[in-house]
Amino acid sequence: MKKFTNAVIYGQNGANEILIENGVIRSIGKNLGSADETIDLGGKLVIAPYVDPHLHLDYVYTLSEFEKTGAGSGTLFEAIEMWPKFKENLTIEGAKRRAIKAIKDEVSQGVQYIRTHIDVTDPNFTALKAMLELRDELKDIVDIQIVAFPQEGMYTYKGGRDLVEEALRMGADAVGGIPHYEPAREFGEKSIHDIVELAVKYDKVIDVHCDETDDPHSRFVELLNALVLMEDYGIRTTASHTCSFGSADDSYAYRMMDLFKKSKLNFIACPTENAYLQGRHDTYPKRRGLTRVKEFMESGINIAFAQDSINDPWYPMGNGNMMNILDNGIHLAQIMSPGEIEKDLDLITYNGARCLHIQDRYGLEEGKDANFIVLDGDSPFDVIRNRAGVLASIRKGEYLFKQKPIEYDVELDLGVAY
Ligand code: FE2
Repeated sequence: MKKFTNAVIYGQNGANEILIENGVIRSIGKNLGSADETIDLGGKLVIAPYVDPHLHLDYVYTLSEFEKTGAGSGTLFEAIEMWPKFKENLTIEGAKRRAIKAIKDEVSQGVQYIRTHIDVTDPNFTALKAMLELRDELKDIVDIQIVAFPQEGMYTYKGGRDLVEEALRMGADAVGGIPHYEPAREFGEKSIHDIVELAVKYDKVIDVHCDETDDPHSRFVELLNALVLMEDYGIRTTASHTCSFGSADDSYAYRMMDLFKKSKLNFIACPTENAYLQGRHDTYPKRRGLTRVKEFMESGINIAFAQDSINDPWYPMGNGNMMNILDNGIHLAQIMSPGEIEKDLDLITYNGARCLHIQDRYGLEEGKDANFIVLDGDSPFDVIRNRAGVLASIRKGEYLFKQKPIEYDVELDLGVAY
């Protein structure tokens, strides 16, 4: 039996101890008695591990490796056009090496759950094979879910739909799509029907790149929501991006939000990525590229934040730091009132877990795996305001890593008393 003590435990009023047996949380509370080993956490905040619910692990670091001249002008559609050139150079070994580097970026900063979209518009399935291997090889340090993602379209790419189906047979966990990139609305809608049919047929979850454009006429989320509402599949479905919903007319948006509540559809926003990619055809005012995060939170619609890219043709930056994503997101979405701050950490933890549909085994609760992280602060407000780092990540009761808070050789001395 192991006990972590002297902690501030997120969402557990007044509890300061976690008792662990065989890698599982036995109890959370106060004065939990003695244990074989007791670890003092120095009054720091303990939360469930970060979840990055949308990351392209087959694209990470390809920008630096394959294209020395930069990411062009920086529009989404330009990046999609660039990708096939990069894809020609993929090998399983190279894809694994770059993905491992990015996984290390994320896990070393507190992530323990990743959903990755892997491009399957490739008859060789090079990236998918690499990722299926890694999902298994790294399962003790990180949970990876793989989305069969047709980057070049189910119909724009000849045979794309069938490649998605084959990827599901090969072991992908989720069905993806990109309806706004199909060559006409009719084909985008057809792809949404395919996505839901494939998910039901193979018993998979759904995560669609949906309406990643400023065009308010891109409304594929409406059809996706309707189909999963009718199939009672909303809780297992995520609409990623939905940037256009940020440009939608209010009367349409509020009608849709009522329907999202009924279906229990999940949403993911990528604040840094889409702030960079969207608004490119605007002069001024310039849109933020973000869906209606604040209104979703107020309506009880599940919304999570994600990294999306690390140094790829879509986005040159990115380092797997979910606190950076949260910091950008709460500025862009304007969610910093005292009540909102109390829930903001959920955007990179519990809400992402709901998108991954792992809420039954994720979180700080008795009987669940003893997975958690220790942040360098003592309250949600404190860690968010200071963009606090992760001091330790614990998985099944054991340290994945542990580090000290910053120590100075020479400490700043203001020379005045206060
Ligand atoms: Fe994406």
